[in-house]
Amino acid sequence: MLDFFEMKGVPFTREILIEQLYSSSSYNEATARLEYAAENRQFCLLTGEAGMGKSTAVRSLVQKLDRTKYRYLYLCDSELTPKLFYREVLQNFGIHPAFRSTEAKRQYQSLMLDIYENERKTPVIVIDEAHHFSEPMLQELRFILNFKEDSMSPLTLIVVGQPSLRNQLKVKHLEAIDQRIQMRYQVTGLTEQETKAYIKHQLIVVETPYEIFSEEAIQAIHNFSQGIPRKINTLCSQSLLDAFLQGNKVVGESHIHRVINEL
Ligand SMILES: Nc1ncnc2c1ncn2[C@@H]1O[C@H](COP(=O)(O)OP(=O)(O)OP(=O)(O)O)[C@@H](O)[C@H]1O
Ligand SMILES: [Mg+2]
Repeated sequence: MLDFFEMKGVPFTREILIEQLYSSSSYNEATARLEYAAENRQFCLLTGEAGMGKSTAVRSLVQKLDRTKYRYLYLCDSELTPKLFYREVLQNFGIHPAFRSTEAKRQYQSLMLDIYENERKTPVIVIDEAHHFSEPMLQELRFILNFKEDSMSPLTLIVVGQPSLRNQLKVKHLEAIDQRIQMRYQVTGLTEQETKAYIKHQLIVVETPYEIFSEEAIQAIHNFSQGIPRKINTLCSQSLLDAFLQGNKVVGESHIHRVINEL
């Protein structure tokens, strides 16, 4: 198929390099805000529908972080518990966690302060898939950020999840956590123009000389995907295959509709 479309690589995959990502307005804003949050040791909430590009924005932040100034950890476990959190952080930063939770918590506290005050680096902890978190884990966020009688925080905490997370935090007994959020951003879908540019961009990355997708096809992709990058990727990949199997060098609307029907 790559030969057929004269492509130098596979387009529309999750393996796309950071440098090759498409800069949509929402992606740009998300990464800029994450960077700011990291620099200023903020508590940041990043939300967005599935496939919108949240983890991708985090990936891009990680690449930008100067290793001489930051120590970074990414946790992605929908069943994360406070106990697991402290263990993971300690282990990943090279400390053997104590068996008792209260002791592990103390270890965590001194580790974070040590990195910040003595190593002079900012710990950046990202927890992804947070919309699955249990109540105790959400409650714990408060203690994860509480240092020196709650007068400071030596770390940047970025909590990532689907939009429902925003509402989860809006309930009365989690208000103390909600109030502590210093930066929030909701990643949104690509506009119609951006969807068009996104598809074009993906094709430029693999250096194909063809336009491949017709105007009508792009319109259909946008309508069906609502500008969600993962959905666009799926539609584009499948319709490319469909066109290839039929010996068509152009992906028209009919290919898109066939794929949509199969999905
Ligand atoms: N700016 C972009 N340029 C190119 N591809 C992108 C961009 N943003 C997202 N994608 C692609 O879209 C796919 C989905 O993105 P990502 O995994 O970041 O979504 P997510 O919001 O974390 O979704 P989930 O809630 O399911 O975890 C990825 O495979 C990624 O390659
Ligand atoms: Mg994700």
